[in-house]
Amino acid sequence: MSAKTLSEMAVDVLGTADGRAKTALSRAHAATWFAARKAGEEIAIGRTSPPLRPARPDKPELLDPRDVPRRRPGSEKGRIAILHAVAHIELNAVDLHWDIIARFADVKMPIGYFDDWVKAADEESKHFNLICDCLEALGSHYGALPAHAGMWRAAEDTAEDFMGRLAVVPMVLEARGLDVTPGMIEIFERAGDEKSVAAMKVIYAEEVGHVAYGSKWFHFLCGRHDIDPKDAFHDLVQRYFHGPLKPPFNEEKRAEAGLPPDFYWPLAATSSVRD
Ligand SMILES: [Fe+2]
Ligand SMILES: [Fe+2]
Repeated sequence: MSAKTLSEMAVDVLGTADGRAKTALSRAHAATWFAARKAGEEIAIGRTSPPLRPARPDKPELLDPRDVPRRRPGSEKGRIAILHAVAHIELNAVDLHWDIIARFADVKMPIGYFDDWVKAADEESKHFNLICDCLEALGSHYGALPAHAGMWRAAEDTAEDFMGRLAVVPMVLEARGLDVTPGMIEIFERAGDEKSVAAMKVIYAEEVGHVAYGSKWFHFLCGRHDIDPKDAFHDLVQRYFHGPLKPPFNEEKRAEAGLPPDFYWPLAATSSVRD
């Protein structure tokens, strides 16, 4: 039996600043969780107070989204900028998945809910490492460029709203990843960067699962509270997500993840729902 609760493991990861150290700890804790689950041992979920913001390395410098230099995807510099932005997203995602575990640990959830987010956190950790390897193969590294400061905002905005967190993080932000990843894969295919293509294909395949976990547990909570999932989703996204959703949507992968068109289309840029 593990001495640490799952919430304590989450806070360990959130409190680790360095990216490679954070992901190593994340993967180790995930392995401990799944080994215990396999052996039929119980790791308690526990209660902790996770930090409002996770520990982060000194670099990258975090800039307002408007001040992050634009990417020129045709050049190697542009591709490095894309990989750097993806690494930053993956590192935030590691923290987001551990944060949802610790932050809402007072809500009684089935064990499968914890399995899903531990698995997602483990996969995000792998994604960060894969993308860092690609950056390093191109002579760069995570921290070499400035990054987006806005990414933790969704977590702070929904720090006290469990369903809001599920709606905005996996079902909006991670679903957006499904929309944009095929275009990024093409950029690296055109450049003949097979290492980056392979890494992005792993990410693309596994992110469908994260969106699906979001949709599954969002629907579970709607069922528990006897509320209409589509209406609840629209209300929460309008409350916590700043701005309309941007088409084109990857309808095929969104469907695979259990996200139906009537959830996201009414929130798209042209929508009257927001008026
Ligand atoms: Fe990821
Ligand atoms: Fe993800």
